[in-house]
Amino acid sequence: MTVTAIITAAGSGRRLGHPQPKALVRLHGTPLLQHAARRLVMSGQVDDLVVTAPAGHERAFRTLVPEAIVLTGGATRQESVAAALAALHPEADVVLVHDAARPLASPELVSRVVAAVRAGHRAVVPGLPVTDTITAVDPSAEGATAALGTVPRAGLRAVQTPQGFDRAVLDAAHLAGRDSGTMATDDAGLAEALGEPVWLVPGEESAMKVTTARDLALAGLLLDEGA
Ligand code: C5P
Repeated sequence: MTVTAIITAAGSGRRLGHPQPKALVRLHGTPLLQHAARRLVMSGQVDDLVVTAPAGHERAFRTLVPEAIVLTGGATRQESVAAALAALHPEADVVLVHDAARPLASPELVSRVVAAVRAGHRAVVPGLPVTDTITAVDPSAEGATAALGTVPRAGLRAVQTPQGFDRAVLDAAHLAGRDSGTMATDDAGLAEALGEPVWLVPGEESAMKVTTARDLALAGLLLDEGA
């Protein structure tokens, strides 16, 4: 099986408050993109890397991850993944999709996801139990609003990346998503919309997503602790 990892890194990272794209922001001196790419490679599971870059930053990204195919991302994460899928090597049969915004996802997590795909699960995501109490609300509500009901959290998982797919499933999910105008927040959501069963493996705290300056500080602490 040939495993290709797509690293989505074409976002601007406006919420992080840095002038440069988030993937170039440094954590202990190393850009987030390099942290993510290194851990994927260290797993020993990844044969090829494809990176989506913001327009105008392709050359800088190529310098950081010389072994990767770097291409220009789209206007949304979903479009960036679709652009990467269109550029995959014909032999790729397992595809990982991983956010550069999750720079510390461990090689062990990468291996866990790939092992589940190799075992025959065609769509696999890491999931972490949630610690907050979660309630439903009217999605258009602002300010004080009625709680529509607490969702028992024992049956909930927060979904992370890397997500692993049989390539045919991911291709079909993106095609169907584009044709139907479905905008999903991740690739597993698109697979689900297609009726594909999605499987979970245990996620990890260090696969946290860096969105704000506080997240970056927390990632620094996790790195200090050996992530
Ligand atoms: O913005 P957010 O952090 O949710 O983005 C998740 C990941 O998707 C990031 O790694 C970001 O670089 C990537 N992305 C992308 N193309 C876009 C928007 C986001 O590759 N147009």
